[in-house]
Amino acid sequence: MEDSRRTVLTVKDLQISIATGSGELQAVRGVSFHIQEGEALVLVGESGCGKSVTAQTLMRLNPDPPVHIKGGEIRLADIDIVQADERQMQQIRGSLVGMIFQDPMTSLNPTMTVGKQIGETLEIHHKLKRKSRWQKAVELLDAVRIPGAAGRAREYPGAFSGGMRQRALIAAAIACKPKLLIADEPTTALDVTIQAQIIDLLRSIQRENGMSILMITHDLAVAASIAQRIAVMYAGRIVETGTVQQIFNNPQHPYTWGLMNSVPRPDQDKNSELITIGGTPPKLLGPAPGCSFAPRCKYAMRICSSADPEEFEVASGHSCSCWLLHPQAPAAAREVKEAYAIV
Ligand SMILES: Nc1ncnc2c1ncn2[C@@H]1O[C@H](COP(=O)(O)OP(=O)(O)OP(=O)(O)O)[C@@H](O)[C@H]1O
Ligand code: SF4
Ligand SMILES: [Mg+2]
Repeated sequence: MEDSRRTVLTVKDLQISIATGSGELQAVRGVSFHIQEGEALVLVGESGCGKSVTAQTLMRLNPDPPVHIKGGEIRLADIDIVQADERQMQQIRGSLVGMIFQDPMTSLNPTMTVGKQIGETLEIHHKLKRKSRWQKAVELLDAVRIPGAAGRAREYPGAFSGGMRQRALIAAAIACKPKLLIADEPTTALDVTIQAQIIDLLRSIQRENGMSILMITHDLAVAASIAQRIAVMYAGRIVETGTVQQIFNNPQHPYTWGLMNSVPRPDQDKNSELITIGGTPPKLLGPAPGCSFAPRCKYAMRICSSADPEEFEVASGHSCSCWLLHPQAPAAAREVKEAYAIV
């Protein structure tokens, strides 16, 4: 059935390089994805695979140099983000797209009350009077379920716990009702109970405001708790993308299998060890030809280290870049895939 919702964000063949002392780091190498109105997409992958650089580039937060968009397109609503100048970006940040970061401790100004900080976003975009700004900031703190919001607005961030700071940052990010909320590892610094509460809050914001969410995490369990679709990223590329059901019930990429094996299952003995993916991701300074996962992949074939895997469509909305999906892959390799799919 055709999806009639509008596309809020389209990223096509995005390539980002970073100038470093050791040379050009190809941090993002041809990333494409889209997010529909009211949809949550999660980018999942190991540390250093380019998740944050991708997300920050959507808001053009990185200075060029060293971070340079080498190619590709980013369209947010109908705006060409790659071509936008800094004045346009200032308008877009906060009003069309809001962002929350991993560490709520460093993202708030310790010398300003929480209410004033949230009010500042409203001042930039809505030119509200001081009293109305304050009132709105209190309403927002209440909306992100901070008890006694009116009193809390007068406090400085130092008086807030980690979970409350993250809620305050969410309040600031959604103050102007952006179309897209980018959340970069928003729960990593929090304990498990608070983590679940923040995810629950993000889900209700998405539902109530019809907001789209791009969430970044290295944890597939967190991804499953909020996403409608998941994009698995490895070494600057998206290697598999699909709905949560497609990724969890029928994963196709050996790296996705590795990620799945490292998620604790409810039926698993608490003392049993999780299987982690052996080896380390490649350095992205002049990456080798072929599949970047080949040195760590148990199923690598000869072609894997010489040619970049093509993208294969597994089902509608589910695609994967792995040579195991090629119709001419050895029968043994296909059996490996089928065996995994049944598990
Ligand atoms: N300003 C910078 N200067 C040099 N290298 C950078 C810079 N920003 C990012 N990188 C490098 O680019 C690559 C991608 O980084 P990125 O922060 O996007 O990773 P990530 O997937 O978000 O990882 P994590 O899960 O650890 O946050 C990494 O190799 C990182 O070291
Ligand atoms: S393309 Fe080859 S090396 Fe890469 S994940 Fe698939 S089987 Fe493994
Ligand atoms: Mg990151």
